[in-house]
Amino acid sequence: MAFPELKLKKNPNVYPPQEDTWFMVDVLETQLHREILNRNRSILVCEVGIGSGFISIVLAKKYPMINFIGTDLSYQSAILSFKNMKDHLPRNQYDIVCMDRLRSFNPSKFSPDIIFFNPPYVRTSLEEMRKGFLEKSWAGGPKGITVIQEFLKDLTRFFFGKAFFLSSIFNENESLERDFKEEFIFRVISQRKIENEKLICYEVRSR
Ligand SMILES: C[S@@+](CC[C@H](N)C(=O)[O-])C[C@H]1O[C@@H](n2cnc3c(N)ncnc32)[C@H](O)[C@@H]1O
Repeated sequence: MAFPELKLKKNPNVYPPQEDTWFMVDVLETQLHREILNRNRSILVCEVGIGSGFISIVLAKKYPMINFIGTDLSYQSAILSFKNMKDHLPRNQYDIVCMDRLRSFNPSKFSPDIIFFNPPYVRTSLEEMRKGFLEKSWAGGPKGITVIQEFLKDLTRFFFGKAFFLSSIFNENESLERDFKEEFIFRVISQRKIENEKLICYEVRSR
């Protein structure tokens, strides 16, 4: 679904919403619906790599009882997503932090119910990963999973309900499951073919 009704500000250096973004929205709409039914209290959702803010804004508009916190490595994404959230959401429903993944959060004070990441997952050279912020939006390194691995390492420090992330089916996803098998249970919850690739959405739970 392309959500033509949601008009967002843009920045040429920030990843614009596209098919992977819409896939993540579709998956999370269903997941959040379940969480709300299962819990009789407010819910905190953290989006890592928030980009334009599109996913969190769509979900926050649909579920006004959920609070969102977004992070992004790129200060341009952090600024743009903040502006977009300000245009569409009440100020007490969101916060944005410019940081690498979840690195600066204190695990004893931050335990979101849901964490999700539409990460850079395209197979690229290491040089591509070191270019500008826009390249960092998609450059996933030689196996496509360099940033995902770092994200999962971060997750080991936190208490959270469930985490979700996307990857390409052509990436070395089995090595993620192998490397983190002591810490997490992985489940593929959805797949979608987009243009020349097939995306896969994983659910992650602590053991
Ligand atoms: C594929 S884009 C997704 C953007 C947006 N969530 C969406 O779905 O349209 C990946 C986003 O992750 C951000 N990013 C890349 N590496 C990151 C890191 N180590 N920590 C936080 N954000 C990161 C990029 O700046 C970019 O905004």
